[in-house]
Amino acid sequence: MIDNGTLVLFGAKGNLARVKLIPGLFHLDDCGQLPRKMKIFSVGRQEMSHEAWVAEIKDMLDKKFKGNYDQATFERFIKRNIYHCNLPDDPDAFKKMAVKLNNEEEFTDNLAFFLSVRPSDFALIVDQLADEGLLTEKNGSFRRVLIEKPFGTNYESAVELQKSIEKHLREDQIYRIDHYLGKSALQNILITRFANSIFEPVWNNQFIDHIQITNHETLGVGDRTTFYDATGALRDMIQSHLLQMLALTTMEAPKSFSPGDIRDAKINLLESIQPIPMNDFDHHAFRAQYSSGKIEGETVKGYLDELEDQNSVTETYAAIKLFINNQRWRGIPIYLRTAKRLHEGGTYISIKFKDNNPILENAGSNWMVMSIQPKETTHFEIQTKIPGLNDFDFRVSNLEANNRVAGDESIDAYETLMLDLMAGNQSRFLHINEVKAQWKLVDPIIETWMKDKTQPVQYIAGSSDPVESKIIFENESQFWRKSIHG
Ligand code: BG6
Repeated sequence: MIDNGTLVLFGAKGNLARVKLIPGLFHLDDCGQLPRKMKIFSVGRQEMSHEAWVAEIKDMLDKKFKGNYDQATFERFIKRNIYHCNLPDDPDAFKKMAVKLNNEEEFTDNLAFFLSVRPSDFALIVDQLADEGLLTEKNGSFRRVLIEKPFGTNYESAVELQKSIEKHLREDQIYRIDHYLGKSALQNILITRFANSIFEPVWNNQFIDHIQITNHETLGVGDRTTFYDATGALRDMIQSHLLQMLALTTMEAPKSFSPGDIRDAKINLLESIQPIPMNDFDHHAFRAQYSSGKIEGETVKGYLDELEDQNSVTETYAAIKLFINNQRWRGIPIYLRTAKRLHEGGTYISIKFKDNNPILENAGSNWMVMSIQPKETTHFEIQTKIPGLNDFDFRVSNLEANNRVAGDESIDAYETLMLDLMAGNQSRFLHINEVKAQWKLVDPIIETWMKDKTQPVQYIAGSSDPVESKIIFENESQFWRKSIHG
């Protein structure tokens, strides 16, 4: 990795930067992972002296690490940090920024721009950076732009944003984020599948009955009501995070583990998912909203009361069924579901194997669950004989492969992705064709739900999946797993 790049952080005073990015960069510095001469050029919309910025960083770190961090690292970290005010109403703001960044005594030519700003500002900022020549690579240096999610709010707006930024940037300079790809447990899906020869022979429609991809949270929408009501669970979680999990679980083996080959394998998979049949919509997509209930003993408000709008039909629970149109997966339902305010929080992929044992007909099922969070583990359920005289009494035994053990390095998803950005590794970022394929799948569902103003099914906060969601199952033997253990 080039050790002297500059990370230019737009939105440095925003929530993501305060909670994740700046403390994350500090953590990387503390564990010796940050490139030696890397600088952090933070851009905000308010004027602020260097001293005031240092005090803000200190405040962020105090909150994150409860005051418990190394002073020498702090001194080193502060030396890397520069604050720059980009006044919103100053027509010369980007010119002034360029003058600073072009100062060769302070900064090298390697610049990576992280746009942690309102989505409506992405194209505008890229245009202005380009106008000042800040996106032009010279003498082997790099210029990269990282775009926070969401990349568009539907297919059309994603294509429009792409058209606008590709005037100035090549695909290999654009880093579209989906922070789930930075989670080590997601990378583990590829290792599980391709570093263990026992799985490949059974990873297909001959042996697998169905797959469930789950993300549940106990949290509600909090203070993001305006954003959330315009977004909904499907767009917020399924459009990228869950579809990426699906792609990693079901894609063909990449030609190699190079970023290009991994992304090609995902693109092929995402493009081979069948669109939801509109003439059988209700058996493929289900939505619901949480009503008031209890989470960890505390009474919480329902979604509509939080929103103070009883007419909203925005879903806080979404479940869809997809089919992949290729030889490996044809006919196998893949269920994706996500919810706020469910009985427990957890992200996991559950694989149910077919019950087709010709000799022991009443043998139970085999499940394999790859858990992403909170626990990083792979859980298997196998049938074993109950010890004793009866030859054919069995029960389920659990095998647990903990993917994280005490002492393992803990690098947050955003930390990983910032390092990838500086190193020029795009494998954990989305290619434009992935983004397009994802929007193509979810757009018709969102449009149908937006038009339908009948009140969605209500589920009590703290409960598990609403029973009505079963409508999307292919047959009566299928059911939602409520946790990684069953
Ligand atoms: C974000 C969504 O992309 O992911 C949030 O906007 C959601 O609504 C979050 O809570 C979940 O991320 P994680 O890493 O906590 O699972």
